[in-house]
Amino acid sequence: MKIRNINIQIEEYDHTDSLKKAEAQLLGLAQEAIKGSYAPYSEFHVGAAVLLENGEIVKGSNQENAAYPSGLCAERVAIFHAKSKYPSLKVKSIAITAASENFITRSPITPCGACRQVIAETENRQNEKIRIIMKGQEGIVQAVNGIENLLPLVFKEEQLKKSKRK
Ligand code: THU
Repeated sequence: MKIRNINIQIEEYDHTDSLKKAEAQLLGLAQEAIKGSYAPYSEFHVGAAVLLENGEIVKGSNQENAAYPSGLCAERVAIFHAKSKYPSLKVKSIAITAASENFITRSPITPCGACRQVIAETENRQNEKIRIIMKGQEGIVQAVNGIENLLPLVFKEEQLKKSKRK
């Protein structure tokens, strides 16, 4: 038996002022996207903004449903919208934030497991990493370059390929 340690890297910024202007703006658009959120059940409104390689920004927000699993997270709404509109354009980065009706979000809003898997697929499809920028209403900003920093040992397309049995 051996133990393998995996090194992940998370950037932390005390203020959005310390971010590059374009990234602070992307977070601002994620915050704006919250207005489109439909979250009567969780009362937790998430916004995401996706920057594409042509400079276009596509926003998304969480869309809930009385049949809970039928709803979708803000990140997937934004990515699926962007990729269905521009299938061949690369996703450069995604900014995520959220506001609750019941409390102030003070830590960065990190994507759920299913959204991480979708970000991983998008990276594989375009053969380029995606920068993920995360923030609450208050507090620090976290950013990572590539989903491997949020989803080590990701399940990938290669694992679906048959390998010959001996
Ligand atoms: N949600 C997102 O939209 N993105 C996340 O990263 C975390 C969770 C949504 C799903 C659901 O509508 C609500 O937040 C509470 O889980």
